[in-house]
Amino acid sequence: MNKKFSVLIKNKITKFNKTILVANDKSISHRALLIASQCIGPSNLKGVLESEDVKNTIICLKKLGVKILKKNKKYIVYGNGLRSFRKPHKNLLYVGNSGTLARMLIALVATHPNLKVKVSGDNSLNKRDMKRIIEPLSKIGCTFYPRDKTTLPLTIEGTSMPLAQKHTETLGSAQVKSAILLAAINTHGITTVEEKKISRNHTENLLTAIKASIKIKKIKKNNLISLKGQENLSNFNLEIHGDPSSAAPFIVLTLLTAGSKLLIKNVNCNPTRIGFIKILKKMNANIRIKNLKKKSGEHVGNIFVKSGSLKPINCPKKLVSSAIDEFPLLFIIASVIKGVCKFSGINELRHKESDRIKSIEIGLNQIGIKTKSTIDSLKIFGNPNIKIEKTLEVYPKKDHRIAVSYVILGLLLEGRIKIHNCETINTSFPSFLKLIRKVGGKFEVK
Ligand code: S3P
Repeated sequence: MNKKFSVLIKNKITKFNKTILVANDKSISHRALLIASQCIGPSNLKGVLESEDVKNTIICLKKLGVKILKKNKKYIVYGNGLRSFRKPHKNLLYVGNSGTLARMLIALVATHPNLKVKVSGDNSLNKRDMKRIIEPLSKIGCTFYPRDKTTLPLTIEGTSMPLAQKHTETLGSAQVKSAILLAAINTHGITTVEEKKISRNHTENLLTAIKASIKIKKIKKNNLISLKGQENLSNFNLEIHGDPSSAAPFIVLTLLTAGSKLLIKNVNCNPTRIGFIKILKKMNANIRIKNLKKKSGEHVGNIFVKSGSLKPINCPKKLVSSAIDEFPLLFIIASVIKGVCKFSGINELRHKESDRIKSIEIGLNQIGIKTKSTIDSLKIFGNPNIKIEKTLEVYPKKDHRIAVSYVILGLLLEGRIKIHNCETINTSFPSFLKLIRKVGGKFEVK
């Protein structure tokens, strides 16, 4: 992690009219690297996000014996085929802040014979629940030590005979679903995952694009995914586009800054990722997706946003999974518009890099915004006339989305906000502050 720094915001942003590109998709970057490591031959990956989380994926794969080179802005991953990882130095892997990397990498290690590896993360990740992957991976035969521990650091002993099983995913977690699917590519026979709550489907899309034996069947509102494993996977070429979660803060700034317009080019608009836009449209937001095209199994388009007044929402539960990382920003919007917004079915937010309901409530309450929460819901009583009287100091610690959300709040309000720990933004969006400057946001780095 780079040196700690804070951002001090003293002024509201003024109207802007810009065209930008945002950071490339983090979820797809992780998946492309991990899946390429199990293919035979070199895969060429263009547009891999160079953030700390993804750099940790590259470092871990290299430690597991995968050759990865960077040439002319492309990453070349020299896959050695299924179950080809080698023992890492000292049998240790460090996955930093990334739950996605931890859960998906552990699934691959778990299905490698002769590997016994200790995996640890930073002090945020080491507090997060791993039971959600320990259970399905234990069912296929891998072992975790210490036996009753459900957080990192954990030692994972891979199984030489993984068993194809029937799994049910009930959390709406793409990380859990993807962990099961990555274990399944190394498992003989047909593994199934019944998805009770639909989550982002980049793993399925990539496996389909590279012709793995994967089938997705709709059963009522659920998906039944089946994958036939231990079948060789061929190397592939992939181009990764903008991350909708990185477009989100700029969409918020535009919507709430009178007279503003923004065009964000080449953003992944996979329907399982744009719940945020669907929710905002229900709030009357002027957002259009233009030039939508399918590229390497993913939808990519240009997002056009215009400012305008927003109305409060009782957010539909069915949109929660597809907007999961954007809730801190939705809470910021709710706090500065007129009326009461209600969000429910959001318990998963309590299990992210921080408890995101609490992290936002703390700051909003300090500036006089009333909130009411339960374990699973949040009500925000918005106030468009709010001014920050005394400097608001916030400590997002190791939660990048909380840091970004408070930067946005600072740019929307009169008064001063000091956001500590802004170095955490580099885990997912290293160019964030540069882009804030590009659209006219003013801040001081301390
Ligand atoms: C991700 C899935 C989501 C999301 C995370 C990235 C992924 O987590 O919050 O930022 O790439 O699969 P969950 O699977 O825990 O919902």
